[in-house]
Amino acid sequence: MKVLVTGGAGYIGSHTVVQLVEAGHEPVIVDNFVNSSPGVLDRINEITGREIEFHEADLTDVKKTLQLFDEVRPEAVIHFASLKAVGESVEKPLMYFRNNLDSALSVAEAMGSVGCQNIIFSSSATVYGDGDVPMNENQEYLRSDSPYGRTKIMIEQILTDVAAAHSIHVALLRYFNPVGAHESGLIGEDPLGIPNNLMPYVAQVAAGRRERLTVHGGDYDTPDGTCLRDYLHVVDLAEGHVKALECIAEGNVSVRAWNLGRGRAVSVLEIVHAFKEASGVDVPYVIGPRRAGDLPSVWADPSRARDELGWTAERTVADMCADTWRWQSSNPDGYRAS
Ligand code: UFG
Repeated sequence: MKVLVTGGAGYIGSHTVVQLVEAGHEPVIVDNFVNSSPGVLDRINEITGREIEFHEADLTDVKKTLQLFDEVRPEAVIHFASLKAVGESVEKPLMYFRNNLDSALSVAEAMGSVGCQNIIFSSSATVYGDGDVPMNENQEYLRSDSPYGRTKIMIEQILTDVAAAHSIHVALLRYFNPVGAHESGLIGEDPLGIPNNLMPYVAQVAAGRRERLTVHGGDYDTPDGTCLRDYLHVVDLAEGHVKALECIAEGNVSVRAWNLGRGRAVSVLEIVHAFKEASGVDVPYVIGPRRAGDLPSVWADPSRARDELGWTAERTVADMCADTWRWQSSNPDGYRAS
């Protein structure tokens, strides 16, 4: 299938492009590099041995998006492109609603203009709010604490209405905590500035770029007092997109949500220790105060994706740490040096 991957130069997008090629599909990347680097494109080409078609465009521009779809004529879209920093979304809600909603609306409209019938939307476990764990897709009311999370809920609802009106096929993929990197060490997560998320922060401490990790809270009601999350390897996540794509393209699904997680709860300190083990490098840390908005425990019930897509995340926490370390240690400045 010819698949337009919006945000295909980003962290999850780039890994998904590689898995699409591996599965025999033809990805086309569109990105505006607002949170990614052009250097990733050569790396993707190196891994896949192909020259992947690429377009630079801002999808909030509906006219340009219509032109892009007219030129590319995709059979399916995987829509990753969006702003994703939870804290920033609290400070700049209008920027988040404008950017994330406008780009999703442009994409949905452009699909209609060229008769493209399949879309995979990059959603998040944040739509479950502080729901019961393990979180499953049947939770009746979606809710989120942040404007970022609310854009995910709203776009899920927009696509549900579009599917009902125009008979398109929609997969809503709710990610838990994607980490890790491609085993080649050529692509990985390359955050701009100080990382917000745990794994890239740990990797930069191990690499000597930052002095120590601050663990946000050691007094939660969890086995070691630190928060529990469901970390999954980004290549497993990328494979989940290929499975979901192949499922909805059969035409039997109108709208379906699938959790992509491992169903395992792992603490912050377990990640720190696993990273030390995998890298052989010390990761100094201090326990600091809790971070506003953090939930103590978030993990998936991944059984729907297993039963309906035939997908399970097989890579372990040790794999996630080893692959992150390979990427971090061979690219200390991310893509900026390339
Ligand atoms: N953490 C630290 N120190 C750090 C960074 C993180 O202790 O420097 C802790 C956090 O407090 C949390 C855990 O590591 O307990 C994981 O934090 P991340 O920021 O890596 O991930 P979150 O679970 O907070 O965020 C994820 C996604 C968001 C999504 C959010 C809510 O990255 O996109 O879940 O579902 F919105």
